[in-house]
Amino acid sequence: MGELDGKVAIVTGGASGIGAATVAALLGQGASVVIADIDDARGEALARRLGPKARYARLDVSDEAAWRRVVADTVARDGRLDVLVNNAGIGAFADVEKETREGWDRVIAVNETGVWLGMKHAVPEMRRAGGGSVVNVSSIFGEVGGFGASVAYHAAKGSIGVMSRNAALRYAKEGIRVNSLHPGFVDTPLVAPVKGTPVEDQIVSRTPMGRWGRPEEIGEVIAFICGPRASFMTGSEVYVDGGWTAG
Ligand code: NAI
Repeated sequence: MGELDGKVAIVTGGASGIGAATVAALLGQGASVVIADIDDARGEALARRLGPKARYARLDVSDEAAWRRVVADTVARDGRLDVLVNNAGIGAFADVEKETREGWDRVIAVNETGVWLGMKHAVPEMRRAGGGSVVNVSSIFGEVGGFGASVAYHAAKGSIGVMSRNAALRYAKEGIRVNSLHPGFVDTPLVAPVKGTPVEDQIVSRTPMGRWGRPEEIGEVIAFICGPRASFMTGSEVYVDGGWTAG
């Protein structure tokens, strides 16, 4: 018996890193999970590996028509939608002056607009299911200024906390909970550009626990927030960061 037996979840960016660990944690609690991503090869291979309760669906989170398709298809196949984890995200390293208009627009489209679009199209189905849980993945960089670089990333991640609290208030009476999850540095392909560089030393030395997080250390907390033990929790910003924001 799992906490999420009979529930249906969509995890964006579910093919890799934190998303893949979240998919595994939700499956472990008994949910059926749609791995929604743009990396078809990785997403399909992961779904095959995880078994019949995992399914891959192509979804570019910045594309509203794709959201309509994937949500409708999920409900057609699985009968309902209870959980949405808006996890898909892309990195961006340029500072205020080096960022380009194209780069800015792409990061905002995926990391910020994609979160809103996901809620917009999932909430009506959650309402039909009698309630639901949304977890929007932000970052410690949605709270602190980091290294003074990655301006578009900070802007997008900073919006997720207040967007989530806004949605939490809007849907609190309908049993649809909305929380944001703010990871510290986690060892995934997203951070590959800094591995082996002096930035990696800074990251590890500035993290009070003195190490990278592991994807499953984030996925397990997300699965908890999605489940019934977190039933009174909405509008919360949850930091899972090895102590980064405690200082
Ligand atoms: P990752 O690079 O391992 O995985 C991201 C996944 O998102 C990939 O499978 C990619 O194909 C997918 N994706 C990219 N653009 C997409 C789009 N337009 N539509 C759908 N899927 C798309 O990254 P990671 O580290 O697992 O990141 C997951 C989330 O956690 C992101 O939102 C990231 O910003 C956030 N995060 C990660 C941290 C880290 O240190 N790894 C720290 C704080 C936040």
